[in-house]
Amino acid sequence: MILVTGGAGFIGSNFVLDWLATEGTPVVNLDKLTYAGNLENLAAVRDDPRHEFVQGDIGDRALVESLLEKHRPRAVVHLAAESHVDRSIHAPTDFIQTNVVGTLALLEAVRSHWSALPAAERESFRFLHVSTDEVYGSLGENDPAFCEATPYAPNSPYAASKAGSDHLVRAYHHTYGLPTITTNCSNNYGPYQFPEKLVPLMIVNALEGKPLPVYGDGRNVRDWLYVADHCAAIRVALARGAPGETYNVGGRAERANTDVVTAICAILDELRPQRAPHRKLIEYVADRPGHDRRYAIDSRKIERELGWRPRHAFESGLRATLQWYLAHMDWVDAVRSGSYRQWIDDNYGTRGAPRR
Ligand SMILES: NC(=O)c1ccc[n+]([C@@H]2O[C@H](COP(=O)([O-])OP(=O)(O)OC[C@H]3O[C@@H](n4cnc5c(N)ncnc54)[C@H](O)[C@@H]3O)[C@@H](O)[C@H]2O)c1
Repeated sequence: MILVTGGAGFIGSNFVLDWLATEGTPVVNLDKLTYAGNLENLAAVRDDPRHEFVQGDIGDRALVESLLEKHRPRAVVHLAAESHVDRSIHAPTDFIQTNVVGTLALLEAVRSHWSALPAAERESFRFLHVSTDEVYGSLGENDPAFCEATPYAPNSPYAASKAGSDHLVRAYHHTYGLPTITTNCSNNYGPYQFPEKLVPLMIVNALEGKPLPVYGDGRNVRDWLYVADHCAAIRVALARGAPGETYNVGGRAERANTDVVTAICAILDELRPQRAPHRKLIEYVADRPGHDRRYAIDSRKIERELGWRPRHAFESGLRATLQWYLAHMDWVDAVRSGSYRQWIDDNYGTRGAPRR
């Protein structure tokens, strides 16, 4: 079995569902259920005996140690984080607390467990840390894409906190020999993404005829990765990645924000013609402070060494994402009204107490 942290978030819940459908071995899912954690994402596996949900903090070392002792996972897949750049600008402290201090506590618990394992288990154990391309800073229009050797230059409190966690993971491999693997991926999109992020925010606003706010001149470029492709990359890195290595994961899909929003509008014009043209809703708003201009990922290492490639083109992934949101407006409504938190109470008991 494996221990996943942050498995009720966007990528984490996609990963848990993907893992159970592909690998099929049991998952213990440790998640604090911050505003970003949503157990409705995991409703399909609520009664699946292979999935055990535990509400708790990665920084709670006693809890993590008890889970490691009880379940003896062969790997930890670490996705738990504060993840929203805008929130990190307004309130950076939580980002340092979870992403840096929390990751340190998790590493300490894992190191203590791992070092006491029998040799064969110690050898095959993996700690896979999921990180971001934002640690590399910003690229100019003609700069080569980020590769694993690109120096770190984080520009937002979020990116700095993820950079801190990456350095800790690296140090735990070099200092203690912990078999760590780090993946640095680009912007994900797909089902179950909290509607504060660009793609779902634009979909939801456009459906309601609300303005589509685009930062600055809209020419900030991101490399878009369909979440199912990211989940496959994590599985491959876990299965075949070399301890101590890092792998960049990108979608081979660089797009300016304005082009992403225009593409969403064009698909919606087709699927929901009543409000067409949706692009008339686009509004350019004051830029985010310190907004990085361009991210681009060179994923040739994971492609060459581990045989992973993104399988979804941006256009087909975006269409699938739109279709998912259109079919799951009840999920969106529950998130926006806050009733998803009530759903957790109703289905999992009183919030606050760790569920073990
Ligand atoms: N979304 C992206 O485009 C993207 C891109 C690159 C890297 N990443 C990284 O991937 C990981 C997952 O991102 P996401 O978009 O799914 O984030 P998310 O915000 O949707 O989910 C994060 C999850 O972590 C949980 N969590 C937060 N603090 C916790 C704590 N102290 N203890 C236990 N659980 C806690 C939350 O409840 C939530 O379920 C993060 O590490 C993020 O930095 C995301």
